Amino acid sequence: MIRKFSFVRRVRHSKIRASERKLHIRSGKMRRGEAYSFHMKLFLDTANVDQVAEVAAWGVLDGVTTNPSLVAKEGKDFKETVLKMCALVPCVSAQVTATDAEGMQKQAVEYSKWHKHVVVKVPMTVEGLKALRFCRQKGIKTNCTLVFSVAQAVLAAKAGASIISPFVGRLDDAGEDGMLLIEKIMEAWKHYGFTTEVLVASTRKPEHIERAARMGAHISTIPYAVFKQLPLHPLTDAGIKRFMDDWEKTRR
Ligand code: E4P
Repeated sequence: MIRKFSFVRRVRHSKIRASERKLHIRSGKMRRGEAYSFHMKLFLDTANVDQVAEVAAWGVLDGVTTNPSLVAKEGKDFKETVLKMCALVPCVSAQVTATDAEGMQKQAVEYSKWHKHVVVKVPMTVEGLKALRFCRQKGIKTNCTLVFSVAQAVLAAKAGASIISPFVGRLDDAGEDGMLLIEKIMEAWKHYGFTTEVLVASTRKPEHIERAARMGAHISTIPYAVFKQLPLHPLTDAGIKRFMDDWEKTRR
């Protein structure tokens, strides 16, 4: 019974999406085959399973990105960590550590067998491009990491990356405006039929996520400490206090 209901909802949802898609294509807002998110996906940038479980319980978490530094920080078994996260969210990026295409491809095949939620993270290098092409041909989902220019973004998309990860915070650290890169990539994406999703990585503050949403970036990956700041606003707290105080007065 439950399965039948969810199937009906899924069909209805896909019809809405198809008609909206047609409208957007007609109005010139999007092109056929273009990656189009009907909502912005929010990922947690962590290798800590407890943090994933906590934020997943909010009901707004779409995935997780890990990297070798984050995994090393936690000091837990990599495969076990990825599998625990796959049980909590539908998309978990697991990064290859090989630097040659053959080694990356071997790791990609291995990781992709762990769980269907695994997305193989491949660095933006020439060897990485070869591995991305291989994964595309094998039907393995990929996230091309360490993207710092529009040229790299285009190469990764052409090689068949499912996701690209431009690192905005590290550009900010180097004295540039990282979000400008996202603006340029989203502008370039409007001209073509790339189905590659743009993931805003290396975010450092809520403003990065807000600017990403305004630019229509498909995904933002967010550190735990920044994710916890997103629901907060001092006027919300003040508003709740005033409502509660007024409510108490009626009960005296
Ligand atoms: C993305 O997938 C990376 O794990 C991450 O965003 C890197 O962020 P950092 O620059 O804070 O290390």
